[in-house]
Amino acid sequence: LSDAGLQFVVGKGGVGKSTLTAALGLEAASHGQRTLVAEIGRHGGLSRLFDAEDIVPGAPRVVAPHLTLLTLEGDEALAEYLRLVIPIKRLLSLVFASRFYSIFVAGAPGLKELMTVGKIWFEAERRMADGQPVWERMFVDAGASGHSLQYLQMPSAAATAFRSGLVHREATRVQQLLADPKRTCVHVVATPEEMPVTEACSIIERLRGDLHFPLGDLFVNRCRPPVPRGAAEAIEVLGRLPAEGEAERLRAAMTEAATDALEWDAVQQAAISRLEECTGLRAERVPLLVREEFGIDDARELVSMLAARRKPGFRPKLARSQRGNP
Ligand SMILES: Nc1ncnc2c1ncn2[C@@H]1O[C@H](COP(=O)(O)OP(=O)(O)OP(=O)(O)O)[C@@H](O)[C@H]1O
Ligand SMILES: [Mg+2]
Repeated sequence: LSDAGLQFVVGKGGVGKSTLTAALGLEAASHGQRTLVAEIGRHGGLSRLFDAEDIVPGAPRVVAPHLTLLTLEGDEALAEYLRLVIPIKRLLSLVFASRFYSIFVAGAPGLKELMTVGKIWFEAERRMADGQPVWERMFVDAGASGHSLQYLQMPSAAATAFRSGLVHREATRVQQLLADPKRTCVHVVATPEEMPVTEACSIIERLRGDLHFPLGDLFVNRCRPPVPRGAAEAIEVLGRLPAEGEAERLRAAMTEAATDALEWDAVQQAAISRLEECTGLRAERVPLLVREEFGIDDARELVSMLAARRKPGFRPKLARSQRGNP
């Protein structure tokens, strides 16, 4: 697990970015670190997990001991920035009310993305009176890949587009933070399936290529537990046992379960091998928790798994839900 203060979580839609952001945040907070979990866009999975769907963008909310949640939204980030640079209230409301503002300022391509990343930078750099960082750890759920890479590339795009002046200076400062492996990393999440793996490979290629971002972990979420050794032989043995009636039905059910498990395992293995081959990284497996409805307590269960991985000599154990699986 990276020590960087600012950690982004990206990946294809639905792979578990919000869940892992919550788990990483809860893990850091459990060590007493002042932790911020943030998500880009309102009504996202992270606020839902913390039961804070009514949270207002830009207004932080404490959701657990040492853990604060913040949602980020372009409009609000832009308005907050203008409040900082135009402290005169009357003038500010005139700006917001003007047609010029809504057409040319708020509508400028890329500006809201830039402001959102700028707000992340602001939070990452904020210091308390004694000089300590306000947040010792920040985890940002950056949304589905196309979206999140668009945000991450904005500072460097702006620094290039504006060769000098205020925008250039501000964007360069943000870019310096994002590119610094001591301070920032980007975790990539996939699931052991074809499309998420393909997308994770191309995200990593871009992070290493034109975006120049420090890579964090490569998580493969919703991994099934390993099939017990001897499953293939067991199918063979079952086939040789004389059985009829109840016993025959039991044998058929057991054979089917073992065959299914082996097939899933082969598909999962192939996906993970492809991911590791195309990225050259070791995939960190995150177990599938079989739940009717997944909630924050389940994310907490992933926390203990993440925490255990910090310890040397870690050997993966079956999650509670998976014990008793045939
Ligand atoms: N390890 C896991 N085991 C079982 N279910 C999981 C696991 N991780 C995530 N899920 C479930 O998978 C679904 C998608 O997870 P999540 O919302 O975290 O994904 P996401 O990548 O943030 O999605 P989106 O791109 O829509 O924001 C959710 O229903 C979540 O509860
Ligand atoms: Mg999400």
